Formats: sequence, structure tokens, C-alpha cells
Amino acid sequence: MSTTDVPREVVERTVWVAEDGLAVVVIDQRELPFRLTTRTLASVHEMAEAISTMVVRGAGCIGVAAGYGMYLATIEAETLPPASGDTFMQQAADLLVSTRPTAANLEWAVRRQQRALEATTDGPDRIRIARQVADTIAAEDVAACRQIGIHGLEILRTLQRAKGGPINVLTHCNAGWLAFVEHGSATAPIYAAHDAGVPVHVYVGETRPLNQGRLTAWELDRAGVDHTFVVDNAVGHLIRRGKVDVVIVGADRVSRQGDTANKIGTYLRALVAHHNDVPFYVALPSSTFDFAMLDGEAEIPIEERSSEEVTHVRGITPDGPQSLRIVAEGTDVRNPAFDVTPAELITGLITERGLCEPTEEAITALFPEPRPGR
Ligand code: MRU
Repeated sequence: MSTTDVPREVVERTVWVAEDGLAVVVIDQRELPFRLTTRTLASVHEMAEAISTMVVRGAGCIGVAAGYGMYLATIEAETLPPASGDTFMQQAADLLVSTRPTAANLEWAVRRQQRALEATTDGPDRIRIARQVADTIAAEDVAACRQIGIHGLEILRTLQRAKGGPINVLTHCNAGWLAFVEHGSATAPIYAAHDAGVPVHVYVGETRPLNQGRLTAWELDRAGVDHTFVVDNAVGHLIRRGKVDVVIVGADRVSRQGDTANKIGTYLRALVAHHNDVPFYVALPSSTFDFAMLDGEAEIPIEERSSEEVTHVRGITPDGPQSLRIVAEGTDVRNPAFDVTPAELITGLITERGLCEPTEEAITALFPEPRPGR
């Protein structure tokens, strides 16, 4: 993995193919907001490591990255004898799928590549197909997020007209363009509103343990959107005091009855919003639905991550970014990375096909086409 510093104006996307076509470049999200760097990944193993160590993160972004990981694997498989090439491709798929178990987009992208690659055993053809599929997944991600922005804008415009003054949106974690390729999911309506001249202000939740709110604040600052960064524990107070007009969050996996896995802490926000009659929307591209699952609480796998994410916090010092221990050594720690918000707490799902009630009937009516197994 090689690292490069880049000026913040030049980067428009989170993932792209290097000029020589033999590697994939990603923004190193661990370094933000202190430093904007890219990493060049030249193998499926490097891609898997980048995903599991959160160099790249966010459901859409890791789906696209995994699609390109499979492309890198086809290049590597070309150098192997045909029999071991097939085994290598299967191992590559298994490795990528195992990196982040909760986000549906990742496995969805890998299985889509595997199905496409069944068309031929010819090595150069497989490389061409894998590249085409990865580019298509990325292009669809951009298009879906753009549409989510268009549909979400109507919600914000309606709320703003009814209220007057700036509309206050609360979001959680980072479901911005860094979590996808462009636009983001939860942020797409915000960016669309900002571009359309609808006055909007965003409360950005810090989102321990890794403080992904820092990424959202960085994005909003870059786009010139008015925002305020708050600690996670401030959210109940802000909602209760009427400071939040609407909550919009992203999703990592949504069951076909609308139960939503998202970054840990989302469920608490949904409960407070529900209790105070504040609308709570989940924005997602359809690649985040898991149509094979009905009961999200019972079925969605919840990733447990390293205890170090809890025992330490990362920040900037005069000597550069550093990680500091905040709890005594030996303290028992748990780190579930996601929780599931039941559909009944969700006002609506903002998808690329429009707003949808979080019910099995509404979701399957909006997305009726047969789904291949994941
Ligand atoms: O930072 P991650 O990859 O652990 O978290 C996933 C997310 O990005 C959030 O849960 C986000 O809200 C989902 S939207 C892509």
C-alpha cells in the first residue's frame, strides 16, 4: 500500500482505478480531517486489509471497493495456473466478504462479480468483465445517491416551508460521500437542499468509538453547509428542546420489512425522535436492502470490532495525530459496531426510487424484481 498526500480540492470521489489500470486508489479515511491522503492498493489482500482497518469505510464505499477488489483478484489470478486461479478467486471472494459482515453492499458487490465471472474461463475476458462490473457498481452508486438527494430534497423543502427559517437536520456517523462514491445517502438531501437555496443547518453527532462525525463535519465544511458538531450524549437534549426538525441517517443493511442496521447509537436517536414526534428517515440505495431477511433484529449480523477502538481515542497533537488510552488497562470492553432500529420507529426510507414506508408491502412494491441470492 503506498500513501500520497493530496490537496482537498482535487478529490471528488472515494475510490477510483489508477491510471495504469493495475491498482485501485482510495482516500485514507483514518487520516481525516487532519490530513487528506490516498492509498494505492495493488492486490485483493491489500483491498481487504484497507476495508477491515477502515482505510475505506461506509456501506456504499466498501461495496464499491469490494467490487474493485474482485477486479484486482482477476488480474492476480491471470498469473496463476487455471486450476489454482479458480480457487484463488473463491478465496478472494471469501476474504472480502469476511472483512465487514454487517454492511449488505459488500457481499452484494462480491456476489454480483462472481455471477458475472461465471460467463467465461478466459483470463483476459474475466479481467475485462470484472472491471466493467466494478465500474458499473460505482456508477450505480453515484446515480442512486443523486436520486436519493432529489427525493430527500422534497422532504426538507416541505418541512422548511412549514416552519420557516433554516431546517435543522440531525445525522449520525458518516453517511456522506465518503461513505459512498459521491453525494452520500443521508447527506444527499442536505447537499441538494443547500444547492437549491433551502436554508439548512446540520447537527453532526460525534459517533464514538471512531468519531465518524468528524468525517461528516469535514465534508459539510468543504461543501459550505452550516453545521454544528455535538457529542453523542447531547442528542436527546437537543431533540427534546425542539432544536431538531428532522433526523436523517444512513444504513448498513435493511431487512425487507424495513428494520435498519446502522452505526451503533442510531436506535437511541430513533427512540428519542419517536418520543418527541420528530420525523426519522433512513436514506439508502437499494444495494443496502437484504431482501432475504425479514426480521432485522433477529437476523442481521452485528460486527464486533477491536476493543482498542473503545479504550483509545485518536486526535491531533502538535506532533501530529496520536492515539490516547482513556480507560485503565485490563478494563472489560465490548464494541458492537452497529445496532438495529425497528421499522416502527422509522418515518420513511429515502431510496433512489423515492420515499417508501418501512413495511414489507411497500418495500417489495417499490422493488418488485426477483433478486438473485446474495
Ligand atoms: O464507519 P463504518 O463503516 O463502521 O460505519 C458504517 C457507516 O458508514 C454508517 O453506519 C453509516 O451511517 C451507513 S451509511 C453508508
